[in-house]
Amino acid sequence: MDVKAAEVLELSPVVPVVALDDAEQAVDLARALVRGGIGTIEVTLRTPAGLPAIERIAAEVEDIVVGAGTITEPGQAARAAGAGAGYLVTPGGTDRLLDDLDEVGLPYLAGISTVSEAMRLAERGVSAMKFFPAEASGGVPYLQSLSGPLPGLRFCPTGGIGPDNARDYLALSNVGCVGGSWITPKRLLAAGDWGGVEALAREAAALR
Ligand code: 3PG
Repeated sequence: MDVKAAEVLELSPVVPVVALDDAEQAVDLARALVRGGIGTIEVTLRTPAGLPAIERIAAEVEDIVVGAGTITEPGQAARAAGAGAGYLVTPGGTDRLLDDLDEVGLPYLAGISTVSEAMRLAERGVSAMKFFPAEASGGVPYLQSLSGPLPGLRFCPTGGIGPDNARDYLALSNVGCVGGSWITPKRLLAAGDWGGVEALAREAAALR
């Protein structure tokens, strides 16, 4: 499925962010999310299993858009695109990294945590971005404050978000979705507990 940058925010109210240790788990995990009603997964490149996991999900699981997360260096975006990623996510953005993302051409959510960083992305024509690390950077009140001076920008806050505060973020007019690792906790991955992941996904999908 092809998506545009702004559409990444509409794929699901919650984007599960996962760092997999074993690419063999990728397909079962993605299918559990789909059964729970979640239409996307961000597989981070923090582990060597990240790229092969993206490759498997893109090839074998329908009804889910797989994004590649934790893109921090030029070159990674092209490798993620080659593996079949539908979009890219970065924790922040240097000029070099953003140029590289533009060159690859996939939709991306680049991370910002300050007003000036958001404005720099807006200057590049980008209106959908990640707010990271959300809780540590000021959380809901901070994001709400951005909607006055920067009314055209929409965000996917990530970092420190869970079932207790996700609704507060999703209620903001400038938030399209939230991201987080709470739907795919290490304990469920270690146990291969796909029913447990499906249950958490179902709760997350119902948040909005
Ligand atoms: C991310 O990269 O988006 C975060 O690590 C996810 O943050 P969380 O683990 O606090 O949900």
